[in-house]
Amino acid sequence: MKIGLLGFGVVGRGVYDILAQRKDISVGTVLCRRDLGELTARTTRDMADIIADPEIDTVVEVMGGLHPAFEYVSAALKAGKNVVTSNKHLLCHYYQELNQLAKEHGAVLRGTAAVGGGIPWLVNLERAARVDQIHKLSGIMNGTTNYIMDAMNKSDVDFADVLKKAQELGYAEADPSADIDGWDIQRKLIISAGVAFGVCLQEEDVPVFGIRNVSAADIRRFQARGLTCKLIASAEKLSDSVAAYVEPKLLGADALEAAVPANFNLISFESEYAGKQSFFGQGAGRYPTAYNVVQDLADIASGVDRFYTDKFQSAATNNAGALHKYYVRTKAELPELEALAAEDWDGAVVTLPVSVAQMHSLLQKMLEVDPQSFIAGL
Ligand SMILES: NC(=O)c1ccc[n+]([C@@H]2O[C@H](COP(=O)([O-])OP(=O)(O)OC[C@H]3O[C@@H](n4cnc5c(N)ncnc54)[C@H](OP(=O)(O)O)[C@@H]3O)[C@@H](O)[C@H]2O)c1
Repeated sequence: MKIGLLGFGVVGRGVYDILAQRKDISVGTVLCRRDLGELTARTTRDMADIIADPEIDTVVEVMGGLHPAFEYVSAALKAGKNVVTSNKHLLCHYYQELNQLAKEHGAVLRGTAAVGGGIPWLVNLERAARVDQIHKLSGIMNGTTNYIMDAMNKSDVDFADVLKKAQELGYAEADPSADIDGWDIQRKLIISAGVAFGVCLQEEDVPVFGIRNVSAADIRRFQARGLTCKLIASAEKLSDSVAAYVEPKLLGADALEAAVPANFNLISFESEYAGKQSFFGQGAGRYPTAYNVVQDLADIASGVDRFYTDKFQSAATNNAGALHKYYVRTKAELPELEALAAEDWDGAVVTLPVSVAQMHSLLQKMLEVDPQSFIAGL
């Protein structure tokens, strides 16, 4: 197998290093925008060189972003080349179109590293879905936010200080918004729900609230009640729709997710025959992520020609029936919130059970009045 490698950053360099140890899969050409120094592979700045090279049968896209990744991956598939990508943004937006192209041109499209980094999550979800009915999936899908929550749960520190440390350690980007505001998790949840339930969810329909506003005082209130706060993605298959959302959640000490340390991930699914299965490991990082890219390449080399799923029923997102209590800390005085209040936690409110749909719409009103408002599901 000969590879065209698109991107030579954190993941691309990792893929290159791992493949340097193998004889059956080699990197033929690296697409780059700058001088990469001495490599055993050719380099080019023009994707057309990779498309036109008959020796390159598989393209690895580890550039990130939607464009030109979409155009490059489409061109590779149209040329009958297999594609392996770690790009969750690309798969979330264009999974159906790219799968269709792969099918039409007899190529394979894989993207195991796009969700869970080094964790064999999507491949196991695919295996479960082919023999079992998956009802639910949930968990910690982002290492940066888990690192921050873990640090805040373990010592009395402010969010801003922990974020700064995470950036110094390379766990958080200079612009951390995609992680701390939950957008990265939303994309992973949509890809996972697609594989698990065979549905296409739209990003604008999946409500997201991240951890940007969590304070040390919130954490103290949770700890006084034996609770741990984590940022959790959830999706549940309903008869003709899916409940799906991303929000902070307060967990008791017996929840597996409560014990997930540092920048690790833990993702679970629940299905009819297998029951609950959980997957724990490194959700990001050069070699864990490159490991799953190379696993996909090895699968293709050994003849795997399946897609994760090619069932794409359009399904509405419906969070009206997903009910639970919420912790709410806000300075906004809203009659709807007062009507829901059930307990006072030292100045914050715990509500009666309320739908996720209603609480996220209420949250938008709270944020307009008090941009520091914070909610967490119970
Ligand atoms: N890092 C992780 O732990 C991780 C985990 C799971 C999934 N992913 C996903 O993997 C993908 C890559 O992530 P990364 O962390 O490796 O990113 P990165 O370190 O920023 O590397 C991206 C690479 O792609 C190159 N590139 C970007 N646009 C290009 C273009 N138009 N033409 C040619 N080269 C281009 C960049 O070149 P320059 O150096 O010239 O900018 C850089 O070499 C993303 O989709 C990310 O979401 C990453």
